[in-house]
Amino acid sequence: MLKGKTIVLGVTGGIAAYKAAALCSKLAQAGANVRVVMTESATHFVAPLTFQTLSRHDVAIDTFDEKDASVVSHIDLADSADLVVVAPATANVIAKLAHGIADDMLTTTLLATEAPILVAPAMNVHMYAHPAVAENMRILHSRGVSFVEPGEGQLACGYVGKGRLAEPEEIVRAIERMFDSGQSLAGKKVIVTAGGTIERIDPVRYITNDSSGKMGYAVAEAAKRMGAHVTLITGKASVVPPAGVEVVPVDSTLDMLDAMLARFSDADVVIKAAAVADYRPARPSDKKIKKNDETMTLELVKNPDILQTIGERKTKQFIVGFAAETDNGERYAMDKVKRKKCDLLVLNDVTVPGAGFGVDTNIVTVFDGSGLVASLPQMSKLAVAERLLALVAERLNARGGSEA
Ligand code: CTP
Repeated sequence: MLKGKTIVLGVTGGIAAYKAAALCSKLAQAGANVRVVMTESATHFVAPLTFQTLSRHDVAIDTFDEKDASVVSHIDLADSADLVVVAPATANVIAKLAHGIADDMLTTTLLATEAPILVAPAMNVHMYAHPAVAENMRILHSRGVSFVEPGEGQLACGYVGKGRLAEPEEIVRAIERMFDSGQSLAGKKVIVTAGGTIERIDPVRYITNDSSGKMGYAVAEAAKRMGAHVTLITGKASVVPPAGVEVVPVDSTLDMLDAMLARFSDADVVIKAAAVADYRPARPSDKKIKKNDETMTLELVKNPDILQTIGERKTKQFIVGFAAETDNGERYAMDKVKRKKCDLLVLNDVTVPGAGFGVDTNIVTVFDGSGLVASLPQMSKLAVAERLLALVAERLNARGGSEA
């Protein structure tokens, strides 16, 4: 599973740095291309030559030590990574990463990478329990950083408690799990709808909603990373579509329905994160409407419900709906999951800070026809997307297995 993967291993300055040598060796033996980055402090514990010999690569320490003039080394390292692992991670490097400080080779690489990050903390028991460390880890967790929890036991500082670096074997298993879930949608065709639809009143005016597209785009990005072929049918959005997905821009609900029906029969998974207008102007004008009377009445007619339409037509497709609610969320969610025949429904209460339209995080609860499936804490929309797709992949694969 690790064969051919480029793993950037960040080693920071704690006594557990010696265990990173065993980790480096295990990763290299498993066929990974290991590129070690050490902090200056880490070099006081273990000689860079140890890692150079085990990884068969130069060890990067100094941001300004540019050996190859054709590349900028921290950007090159950041771009080459399939995964960045920091083991051991001190309280200091965790704080820097949480607050965007980039003052050495490792922290600049960590900021520059788009690869997933796995952090294995190791520190004194009181430091690990300090609210500042806990808060920094929470921030990182909410941005989708994964952690391998430290173990409990005798610490090098003399204390007994939590803070000991997880054993190298355990870190390798965590890395394998990250690559494993990474491809669990391989070969699947996933359609994601995102953004808000716009319903024309006249050539210069329309009705729309507050959707930013962030949640749907995060789902598309996560599905792409998990190996799916992704089609993103998108209404109005304020973010840039992820790389490598097929983008189908649409305006109105009727356009979105057409784009969906043209692709639905081939799809394995449909995720309907779009905020779809329930009504549209009955008679849109093809000329700009001039002002006349003191009041103006706009007659609206009901739009078709895309989710319900595909729910009724589904054969093999696994369908996920979204519900943005302001009150009675659970009751409405259970009603929607049944009425719209979805396999899963993601509920978010848009009145809670940190959830819903426009923000980078979300707090969601996932339901199926029988009730609650998962209740996720506040986390980045990308992390929500990954957790949601892990649930989809698990259920889809279980279904495939029972059909076989
Ligand atoms: N949806 C859809 N087509 C519509 C309206 C909604 O496909 N015309 C989808 C949304 O993409 C979302 C789900 O249905 O996945 C729930 O959207 P929501 O607006 O919460 O549902 P409504 O049916 O509009 O429910 P209500 O207005 O009664 O809350």
